Amino acid sequence: MILTLMVTVTAIAQTTDPFANSIVNGVPWTDDQGKPVNAHGACIVEENGKYYLFGEWKSDTTNAFPGFACYSSTDLVNWKFERVALPLQKDGLLGPNRVGERPKVMRCPKTGEYIMLAHTDDMRYKDPQVGLAVAKEITGPYTFIGPLLYEGKPIRRWDMGTFQDHDGTGYLLMHHGDIYRLSKNYRKAIKKVANGIKGGGESPAMLHKDGTYYLFGSNLTSWERNDNFYHTAPSIEGPWTKQGIFCPEGTLTYNSQSTFILPLHRGDSIVYMYMGDRWSYPHQASSATYVWMPMQINDGKVSIPDYWPVWNPTTMEPVKDLGGTVIPTNFKVSTKGAKLTLPFEGTRIAVIGHSFNNGGYGRISIIDSKGDTVHTNLIDFYSKVDDHGLRYVSPLLPYGHYTLEVECAGEHPHWSNKRGDYFGSHEDWVTVEEVRIY
Ligand code: DGJ
Repeated sequence: MILTLMVTVTAIAQTTDPFANSIVNGVPWTDDQGKPVNAHGACIVEENGKYYLFGEWKSDTTNAFPGFACYSSTDLVNWKFERVALPLQKDGLLGPNRVGERPKVMRCPKTGEYIMLAHTDDMRYKDPQVGLAVAKEITGPYTFIGPLLYEGKPIRRWDMGTFQDHDGTGYLLMHHGDIYRLSKNYRKAIKKVANGIKGGGESPAMLHKDGTYYLFGSNLTSWERNDNFYHTAPSIEGPWTKQGIFCPEGTLTYNSQSTFILPLHRGDSIVYMYMGDRWSYPHQASSATYVWMPMQINDGKVSIPDYWPVWNPTTMEPVKDLGGTVIPTNFKVSTKGAKLTLPFEGTRIAVIGHSFNNGGYGRISIIDSKGDTVHTNLIDFYSKVDDHGLRYVSPLLPYGHYTLEVECAGEHPHWSNKRGDYFGSHEDWVTVEEVRIY
């Protein structure tokens, strides 16, 4: 049965726009071409007043490597698609039907070359290696060289990250707590400086502040989120001490998995921004999102005490009141094609909904007065832990009359790990509690 809920209220927009200068966590971001920002398992390189975001240029249909993307921004809010920095290769480690994940880029201080390291694998994750690609320009295109070698051999581990210390030394971080120092030209690993740090996990990321090294990682739950944790050490070689979690227990790191820590220079100090992924298998390109937030570091302890759904990375303040004209919707459906239709007048619309463990995918579309779809995105309403919050924020639109449509897609995120254990949702619920018009 097709259930269509018609809401006939036309809301008149209110002028303040809380999203204009804000990072909005957990909703797809739209790039300068109107497409989702598709750079997962990411890192950011800051150079000459610009931030360059590199990440997995995911597909919606397969986990096979389609390339690594590069975007740029001056404010961490508005992202320009630069290019597919490392495209699918004809053959080899990143050829057809291979996995490519967690690209990390560093500028080698000695050679001036840009070095990209990434996890390469087969489709069953049975052939893990670290791939090396290089470029003369930061945005690429990057030339794939082959596996990064240590003692003449590939490093046969999967999740990886990188870290560049204050003195310019480059490091490769591997899952389960192996750390390698890179050569001066960053093209090989020359020393294993830490070996299997006890309690180390996946998706490693690092920062170094005031003589203490902080290593972040996650538990092993495939694309599912979990409570990530960190270790500290007085030297990168150790001894490493497990400190525990840095977000409130049970929030599953605010529903994200660590990937990188970006130092942000704010005034005289450096604020460290946590970057995490909220995966959405199988529709990662459209529906996987980002969770980025400043971390607090005091006396060697790290925390992100509160979730900031919307915050300004210039002032480093959360947006406490979303404002807008609020329209309650009470829309909860699980039948494919069931649709919420809401005409509105304004420049932007935000959708607030309930995600829970039996949520599914919903297609959100904005249709203009001529009947043309000006924006559309598949939205993930699944979350292992209950979450009432922002699910979609439209791009800024020319002032006008539009219609919002939210349609139940009749499918849900689900996947299995290497052992065949089932993860994700079993049902297709799409729940919209209210919309806000600006
Ligand atoms: C967890 C890893 O952290 C991700 O990068 C990815 O490899 C998934 N596993 C695949 O299940």
